Amino acid sequence: MTEKRKLRSTQWFGTPDKYGFYARSWMRNQGTPPDMFDGRPVIGICNTWSELTPCNGHLRGLAEHVRRGVLVAGGLPLEFPVMSLGETLVRPTAMMYRNQVSMDVEETLRANPIDGVILLAGCDKTTPALLMGAASVDLPTILVSGGPMLNGRYRGKQLGSGTDVIRYAEALQTGKMTTSEFLDLEAGNSRSAGSCMTMGTASTMASLSEAMGIALVQNAATPAVDSRRAALAEAAGRRIVDLVKDDVRMSQIVTKAALENAIIVNGAIGGSTNAVVHLIALAGRLGVDLTLDDWDRLGREVPCLLNLMPSGQYLMEDFYYAGGLPALMREVLPLLNCEAMTVSGRTIAAQVETAECFDRDVIRTLDAPFKDQGGIAVLRGNLAPGGAVIKPSAASPALMKHRGRAVVFEDMKDFKARIDDPDLAIEATSVMVLKNGGPIGYPGMPEVGNLVLPRKLLEQGVTDMVRISDSRMSGTAFGTVVLHVAPEAAVGGPLALVRDGDMIELDVAARRLHLDISDAEMERRRAAWRPREPHFERGYGRMFIDNVLQADRGVDFGFLIGASGHPVPDKSA
Ligand code: FES
Repeated sequence: MTEKRKLRSTQWFGTPDKYGFYARSWMRNQGTPPDMFDGRPVIGICNTWSELTPCNGHLRGLAEHVRRGVLVAGGLPLEFPVMSLGETLVRPTAMMYRNQVSMDVEETLRANPIDGVILLAGCDKTTPALLMGAASVDLPTILVSGGPMLNGRYRGKQLGSGTDVIRYAEALQTGKMTTSEFLDLEAGNSRSAGSCMTMGTASTMASLSEAMGIALVQNAATPAVDSRRAALAEAAGRRIVDLVKDDVRMSQIVTKAALENAIIVNGAIGGSTNAVVHLIALAGRLGVDLTLDDWDRLGREVPCLLNLMPSGQYLMEDFYYAGGLPALMREVLPLLNCEAMTVSGRTIAAQVETAECFDRDVIRTLDAPFKDQGGIAVLRGNLAPGGAVIKPSAASPALMKHRGRAVVFEDMKDFKARIDDPDLAIEATSVMVLKNGGPIGYPGMPEVGNLVLPRKLLEQGVTDMVRISDSRMSGTAFGTVVLHVAPEAAVGGPLALVRDGDMIELDVAARRLHLDISDAEMERRRAAWRPREPHFERGYGRMFIDNVLQADRGVDFGFLIGASGHPVPDKSA
């Protein structure tokens, strides 16, 4: 071998005994020439390709470009699959399996002759799952996102994935659109390979990966089908070989400073509330202390600079043409930890300080932002002692301070059964409360928090109401929606104790969420509360509900927090 440092893969391929024979000989049945086992870095290409994950359906092709880059740089690329999560298909919710995928990644990396890894991800949960699993192994790592779809188009208009589906579904519900017209939207909504092209969770996590420096520059917005996405994949394949040679591990890139940069950038892009749980979980794997308070402290003053759905008007393709994330990050450089290192070998400041903006309507400036409040606001109070979150840039300014009467739904089944009941006692000033949408309650903490408004209020022209739940919301959604209430109703959190007619006070500026009942009444209700039967008796579901942490701790499993590194396990025989 040419490297001074002994690579972990040489403990498989580098010995002349029977163990080396096993490792090399069986690999050669794939046509691998013997000189590929000369001690060169072995690069895993961890692929979430699956036809069941349409947003990642093109990743087999992208992996070929990574492979070419690795070969050019003198590495040995070995692609492997891990469980994939398609947001639109997986039930009850892809979030329930994020931790399972992270375990798949972690154990596959550690158990195999891998020196460094390229993570190929796209659809919402695939990115945090891969990052979390890789963090617990801590090899040299680069994330390559699949990239967003081309802008949706329908009858001459832009069509944003998720965001416009919600809008048009409401139009269908109120008779402003026919079923035939609604179904016509389908093809225009998803007209190329890639992930949702709004600032949903996929685009958010791709952006934050670039902001943290664990992905190469322009990872966030380059469209999936743009040839520059393939070039980026090849560049990542070349670069990971250098990172292995220099032993630059993931924990040296995703530091507290990098995670803080991600929180600030999340505010500046109007990113998804889902990033809160994902980054807290990722930090936990890396041994970095990151809390909800960091989210509020760092995001409080960050304005939203990006005019992109669901907060704004444009889509990811427009963002890319306007200069992409580097152009946006240049604007917020005064707020960032400029010395944070990236996988490119440059600091984050060096990476973006010369980036140009080509469309100021898409990427605004700190002096003239798109919206004054971009960050995630963290609410606390007797209704959410462990915290709750709201995305001010997607909410209605008029509802940011609100006092209203609770209309309570015990779970989603109850909600679906009663929301369009003409006799439901609900008005525009009511506060809709959903229980049992949390990690254990649903289970899996699904994206149902942006409850659809009652038909009778939609018909009156009501477009937003305060909604509160222990569930999550799609990054593509919008509204004055309080999410991630902790502790959740299913474990007896105060949300479980709310009753129809209670008054609830929301004050985002004061970061307050208050249930207006006396402490004595709260205690009386708590004493009478009983848990529901668990959803699972066995299997992964049982493991999930027995081990999952609440939203304020990232919804990770308690036993997965931390890292076990990458020691080479002993061969059994
Ligand atoms: Fe896959 Fe939106 S459904 S990214």
